[in-house]
Amino acid sequence: MKSSTAFRPAFLSVLIFTCRTTTQNLPPGVISPLVQTCGPTSKIVCINHYASVMPYHFYRQASDNASYEDTFPKTIVGNDSSFSLLPGADFLVFDQQRGLEMLGTAPSYEFMFAVNDAVHEAPVYSPATNKLYLSQLRGNTSPPGFLPQLVVNLNVDPPYLGELLSDPPIYAPNGGTIHNGLIYWGVSGGNDSIGGIEERPGIATLDPTTNKTVTLLNNHFGHYFNTVDDLFVADNGDVWFTDPQYSWFNALTDTAPQLNSASYRFRPSTGVVTMIDDTMVQPNGIAISPRMENCSATENRKVYISDSGAVTGTILQSLGSHGTGFNSTGKRTVYAFDLTSDGNHIINRRPVWFAQDFIPDGLKVARNGWIVAGTGTGVDVVDPDDGALIVRIQTNFTVQNFAWTGTDYMDFWLMGNSGIARVKWNLQGQELK
Ligand SMILES: *[C@@H]1O[C@H](CO)[C@@H](O)[C@H](O)[C@H]1NC(C)=O
Ligand SMILES: *[C@@H]1O[C@H](CO)[C@@H](O)[C@H](O)[C@H]1NC(C)=O
Ligand SMILES: *[C@@H]1O[C@H](CO)[C@@H](O)[C@H](O)[C@H]1NC(C)=O
Ligand SMILES: *[C@@H]1O[C@H](CO)[C@@H](O)[C@H](O)[C@H]1NC(C)=O
Ligand SMILES: *[C@@H]1O[C@H](CO)[C@@H](O)[C@H](O)[C@H]1NC(C)=O
Ligand SMILES: *[C@@H]1O[C@H](CO)[C@@H](O)[C@H](O)[C@H]1NC(C)=O
Ligand SMILES: *[C@@H]1O[C@H](CO)[C@@H](O)[C@H](O)[C@H]1NC(C)=O
Repeated sequence: MKSSTAFRPAFLSVLIFTCRTTTQNLPPGVISPLVQTCGPTSKIVCINHYASVMPYHFYRQASDNASYEDTFPKTIVGNDSSFSLLPGADFLVFDQQRGLEMLGTAPSYEFMFAVNDAVHEAPVYSPATNKLYLSQLRGNTSPPGFLPQLVVNLNVDPPYLGELLSDPPIYAPNGGTIHNGLIYWGVSGGNDSIGGIEERPGIATLDPTTNKTVTLLNNHFGHYFNTVDDLFVADNGDVWFTDPQYSWFNALTDTAPQLNSASYRFRPSTGVVTMIDDTMVQPNGIAISPRMENCSATENRKVYISDSGAVTGTILQSLGSHGTGFNSTGKRTVYAFDLTSDGNHIINRRPVWFAQDFIPDGLKVARNGWIVAGTGTGVDVVDPDDGALIVRIQTNFTVQNFAWTGTDYMDFWLMGNSGIARVKWNLQGQELK
């Protein structure tokens, strides 16, 4: 009895809401409200039906330069005040069922460390040291020389942000992963004499228990790579990496690109480098789906590569390094490929995610197969099976990359220009060690 009377007012309020919508005379099909708070905390909002029909007049300014960040929440929707809920939220839920389940009962977003406005990249969690390693691509070193990497010590509470200068030092890692206890860095910097030594883009390992590094690759038949940007290590030890041209645009190498933008597979046991894709303007993030239970190391595995060609620059040595521009009509897409059963090639290229904001930069695959991409001031979580955006984490800094940490790989650290943040949720990372 009591519960049925308590239920009545809620039912009535739904009726009242429906009436109010009708009296607004919204054209058929318009989603109303577009946005509402939902989920266990006030920092979560749901976007109803992907806001697939907005009331007129609405307009989203497209950016054609790097200084204006054109984002979905900046869309002006004159006839829906609920859209103003977006900018203050930490989590934007697009798929309510899968999204709220993924966030769990107590999702949190914490801004952890203010850092300089340079690119922060190559995050790698080492379970052996319980530390998170990452790189900064610009900073003050005196005298000028190698930039130290950054290390978040997770053995103390609160976590502590320190520096690491490896032996020998490594110039500007831009991507990283861990395999058999060794951190693999995609090295993006190239300089005749930095800190007194020469270094070229390639691949190097760091042993996090000794801080010793070893260079595994530094050339392609004598040419310099452009910018070894991101990488993963396959079960057989092959290192798959992207080589866009950003180091030249961003003045991290003294030599203009000598090679087309492309992605490669490097076999450390023989030294052989094989091109695996040359279809992208600026191949950037690269990641592999998890090995499935009772499957071989190559069965049903997918490789994803993001093309961030909407951010690009000019490659002539005579013009020097001039930074990059952004163009919203350029490439900003994540592509999926199938790994062949011999583990040597990727086939069946198809787009799976067209970034809603800016460009897909860092890219990783969660344990459940969902792809996660750093896209401008946030991170998108997408189910590649149906290509649906599930949730977006919203940040106040441009995210370049991220990594899961902890014994259960449930904490998620994001980093980029000016910030390092931590998310706690129910989306588990792959076990990398
Ligand atoms: C960048 O684009 C925005 C949006 O179109 C515009 O308002 C701004 O003036 C532009 N800035 C520069 C430096 O061109
Ligand atoms: C709201 O909708 C009406 C009717 O379509 C339209 O005339 C008006 O310009 C809209 N207002 C805004 C601020 O977009
Ligand atoms: C090489 O590195 C040195 C710092 O050791 C720096 O002063 C110089 O500008 C760099 N050269 C180029 C061409 O980037
Ligand atoms: C490696 O570097 C870190 C950070 O500077 C330091 O805390 C640690 O003691 C070093 N490890 C070794 C084995 O030198
Ligand atoms: C994997 O194989 C084991 C042993 O045959 C079986 O118990 C388990 O259910 C299988 N797992 C999946 C996901 O099929
Ligand atoms: C933006 O990119 C498109 C497609 O790549 C190109 O046609 C256009 O000229 C570019 N615009 C600018 C301002 O760079
Ligand atoms: C982002 O937010 C944090 C905490 O709210 C603040 O300390 C930081 O300065 C902000 N960063 C930027 C770039 O606005």
